[in-house]
Amino acid sequence: MNKLVLIVGGSTLVYFCLAMLMGVIPGYELSKTPPGPGVEPLTGLQAEGRDVYVAEGCSYCHTQQVRPLNQDKIFGRPSAAGDFAYQTPELLGSERTGPDLTTIGTRQPSEVWQYIHLYNPRAVVPQSIMPSFAWMFDVVDELPKGETAVPLPAAYAPAKGTVVPSQQAKALVAYLMSLKQAPLPPGQGGAMAAAATPAATPAAAAVAPSTGGFDAAKGAALYTANCSACHQATGEGLPGAFPPLKGNAAVNDDDPTLHIHTVLYGAHDVIIGGVTYGSPMPPFASQLSDEDIVNIIDHERSSWGNHGKPVTAAQVAAERAKGN
Ligand code: HEC
Ligand code: HEC
Repeated sequence: MNKLVLIVGGSTLVYFCLAMLMGVIPGYELSKTPPGPGVEPLTGLQAEGRDVYVAEGCSYCHTQQVRPLNQDKIFGRPSAAGDFAYQTPELLGSERTGPDLTTIGTRQPSEVWQYIHLYNPRAVVPQSIMPSFAWMFDVVDELPKGETAVPLPAAYAPAKGTVVPSQQAKALVAYLMSLKQAPLPPGQGGAMAAAATPAATPAAAAVAPSTGGFDAAKGAALYTANCSACHQATGEGLPGAFPPLKGNAAVNDDDPTLHIHTVLYGAHDVIIGGVTYGSPMPPFASQLSDEDIVNIIDHERSSWGNHGKPVTAAQVAAERAKGN
C-alpha cells in the first residue's frame, strides 16, 4: 500500500513540476511581454477575421514570423516578441507553401485585390496553387445598398449575378490589412532590423546598365515583385479592377510626371482611358529607391508595345522632392 502511494504520489509530483517548469511558468513569463512600440490591439472585426484565418487553416501554408535571414528580408524586419502581444496564441506557422504574411497589410494593401484573390487566386496570380475560398462570397442578383461588388475578370466570374463578400470574407480581409510591422527603435533589435532592411540598392547604380540606359533584368524583376499582382505580367491589368499599362497614356507620354507621381504616391479616382477604377493604386515612395523606380518605369515604357521616353533618376528625385 505504502509503495503504491509512493509511486503514484511521486510520479504525480514529478509530472506537476515538469508541467509548471515547461508549460505554465514560460507561458506566464511570456504573457508579460509588453507590446512593441506601435503594436495595436485588434479591433472586433479584425479579431473575428483572425478566427476565420484559424478556422480555414491559412497557417497550414502561411507563416507569420520573419527570421533574421537574408531570404526573409522581403517579408520585413525580423519578428520581435512584442509584435505578438495582442496575438496569442501566435499563428507562427511552420510551412511556407505560400509567402509569409507578417506584413501583408503593407505589401498588398488593396482590399479589392484581396477579395479577388480569395475568391479565386488564379484570377490575379495565374500560376497560384492556393485553394479558392469562393464560398466566403455571396452571389446576388441585385447589389445591396452600401455593398461593393468584387470586380472579377469575366473568365472567373459566375455566369449570372454579382459577387459580394460575406461577413466572414470582410472580417478576414480586415485582419489581413491589420498585419503590419512597426519599426523597432535601436537597442530593441532595431540594429538587427536595420541590417535586414532592404538597402536602398546603391549596387544597382554600379551595375552596368543595359542598352536603354536602365537595367532591363532588374526592371522586369521589380515589376513582377511589386506591380504584376494587379497590372498582370501581360500589362493588361484586370478589366474593371486594375487598369492596363499596355497602351496607357501616362506610360506612353514623353512627359513622365504623371507616371512617376503615380508610382511614388499612388492614385485614386483617376479616369484612365475613360474608365474609373474603384480601388486605389498603393504608393511606393517608401519601398522603392529612385533607381528602382527608373528600372520599373523604363520596363513599363518599353514593354507590351509601349514606346514612352526613358526616365532618369534625377527626374524621379525631383518628383519625390515635390511631395504628394
Ligand atoms: C494549400 C496552401 C494554401 C492555403 C491553405 C492558403 N494559401 Fe494563401 N497562398 C498560397 C500560395 C501558394 C500563395 C502564392 C500564390 C498566390 O499569390 O496566390 C498564396 C498567397 C497568398 C496571399 C498573397 C501573398 C503575397 O505575398 O502576395 C495571401 C494574402 C494569402 N495567400 C492569404 C491566404 C489566406 C487568408 C488563407 C486562408 C483563408 C490562405 N491564404 C490559405 C497557399 C495557400
Ligand atoms: C494593389 C493593386 C496595384 C498595384 C500593386 C499596383 N497598381 Fe498601379 N494602379 C492600380 C489601380 C487600381 C490604378 C488606377 C488608380 C485610379 O483609378 O486612380 C493604377 C494605376 C496605375 C497607372 C496609371 C496612371 C494613370 O493615370 O494612367 C500606372 C502607370 C501604374 N498604376 C503603375 C504601377 C506600377 C509601376 C506599379 C508597381 C510599382 C503598380 N502600378 C502597382 C493598382 C495597382
